[in-house]
Parts: sequence; C-alpha cells; structure tokens
Amino acid sequence: MPITRPRTPRRLRLNDLNKGTDEMIKASILAALVAFGLGSGAAVASGGGGHVEDFAFSFEGPFGSYDKMQLQRGLQVFTEVCSACHGLRQVAFRTLGDPGGPEMSSSQVKAFAKLFEVNDDSDGAQPGDTREGKPADKFPENHGAGAPDLSMMAKARAGFHGPAGLGINQMIKGMGGPEYIASLLTGYTGEEKEEAGVTLYENTAFDGGWISMAPPLDDDAVEFRDGHSADLHHMSQDVAAFLMWTAEPKLNARKKTGFVAVGFLVLLTSLLYLTNKKLWAVAKRKA
Ligand code: HEC
Repeated sequence: MPITRPRTPRRLRLNDLNKGTDEMIKASILAALVAFGLGSGAAVASGGGGHVEDFAFSFEGPFGSYDKMQLQRGLQVFTEVCSACHGLRQVAFRTLGDPGGPEMSSSQVKAFAKLFEVNDDSDGAQPGDTREGKPADKFPENHGAGAPDLSMMAKARAGFHGPAGLGINQMIKGMGGPEYIASLLTGYTGEEKEEAGVTLYENTAFDGGWISMAPPLDDDAVEFRDGHSADLHHMSQDVAAFLMWTAEPKLNARKKTGFVAVGFLVLLTSLLYLTNKKLWAVAKRKA
C-alpha cells in the first residue's frame, strides 16, 4: 500500500480555524444583539413607566450654567407645593444666597428662613421645642407623608438608560436626573387604582408605571413673581432645575475651573512643543 501523506495540509487547517473564529464572532454578535433585544423588551414588559423626556436645561453641556431666575421660580414651587410632603435636609438656607445658585440677597434669605419652623437647639430647650429658622439652619426634614427627601434626588435617579443598562443614552444625553423629575411631574395619565388601601396614580416616567404620589402640580399651582408662565410644563422644569442645584450646587464653578484647567494645559502643551523644536533644531540641522 502506497504511503499517502495526510490530506490535511497546514494551510487548510489554518483556514478551518479561521472559519471557526469567524463563526464564533458572528455567534457572539448575534448573542449580544439578542441580549439587547431581550433587555429592552424586558424593561417594557416590567409594567410600563420609565419614559423620560429630553428637556433642554440651561445648565447642560460644557458651557451651560444655572439660570438664577429659574432657580428662584423652582424654589418657589418647592416651598409652596412640594415642601408639604418632602424635606430638603441637606440644604442650608444661607446657600440660597451663594453665587451660581438662586442668588437671593442676605435679607431675602433671612426672611425666607423665618418662614420655617426648625428644632430648637438652644440651651434649655425641651425636646420638641421649635423656633424660627435662621440662615445657618437647613431646610427641615419631612417624614409625614412617607415622601423621600429631595436634596439629592436629581443625582439619585438616572433619567436615561441604554439598551441592557449599558448607559449609552446617559453618555449622549447626560444622566438625566432633572429630566426624570420633570418627566415624572408631567407624566401623569389621569388613571388611578387602589391597591391594598393605597391609591396609586399611573405615571409614564415612574418605574413600574404606578406611583403613590398624587399629581402635585396643576397649571397655575403657583403664581410666579417674575410673570413667567406657570403652566404644568414650565413649573415642572423650574422645580427640576432647582432640585438639580440642590444636588449639585457648585456646577457653575466646577465648569469654570475645568475650562481654566483645559486652557492652561493647551498653553503648556504649545510651550513644550515650541521648546522641544528649538532644543532639537541644532541637532537636526547637523544631520
Ligand atoms: C401630598 C404629598 C406630596 C407632595 C405635595 C409632593 N410629593 Fe413627591 N412624593 C410623595 C410620595 C408619597 C412619594 C413616594 C412615591 C412612591 O414611591 O410611590 C413621592 C415621591 C417623589 C419623587 C421620587 C420618585 C421616585 O423616583 O422614587 C420625586 C422626584 C418627587 N416626589 C417630587 C416631588 C416634587 C418636585 C413635588 C412638588 C412639585 C412633590 N414631589 C410633591 C408625596 C408628595
């Protein structure tokens, strides 16, 4: 019997191998696509909600900053409506006068703080005693209605999620905390239902689709002193902007510092480039 060489030359084997990898890559891409599909499908199937509108806030983007008048309007909405149920316990009244915030004058801050009753911490005060608020005090806590504190809410909620929680939309549109709050306030459908003795209100932004907070705002729930429209959409955006400020009060200053730093780095880079060119010029001419 003649000896035959094995019929698998090296090249063919390699080709086979390549084919295998190709197929593997195809399969994993397919698997990833299926996972994305399932991921977004599951989010929808979990009972609606989660719809967040992409509002254009003044503080978005690298050059954005808070609009002082909007923050003042938002503060008014919070004080006249939301504070009935929600606390803001991490925010001191005096910060309402800080640059980059609502920028109230010190006499306005004093008068505003007086509207609130806070725990009396002076010598000889009995537990439960209260006194008028002072600028150094913080907004009171509010546990009455079982409503969460709103100080950090704009950072605690991400408005945008990517497919399968990849956060792609967050990269493109920002975290979306304030968008989420504005969408929540405007997202009531008018449907309600009772579950275990609790009234739930259908809401297109709230995860799961049903929230126990009754719609807190109606058109003209407040009257803005600057004559700005107080329809539901405007009020919702104003209070959402204000809550973004409570969660991130130094945003304006932070962006400014960032720009100075970047400007400095650009300058330093060009100086180093020029120095480098000059230092090597002699050596290069000789070569
Ligand atoms: C009558 C009481 C009441 C008022 C007034 C009220 N809320 Fe609420 N809020 C609640 C309760 C209760 C919850 C918890 C709802 C839940 O988890 O089902 C809540 C939850 C929230 C949440 C959190 C939603 C989440 O994702 O968990 C936000 C944001 C919020 N309220 C914003 C506001 C704003 C802004 C205002 C003012 C315009 C306001 N609320 C006025 C009772 C109230």
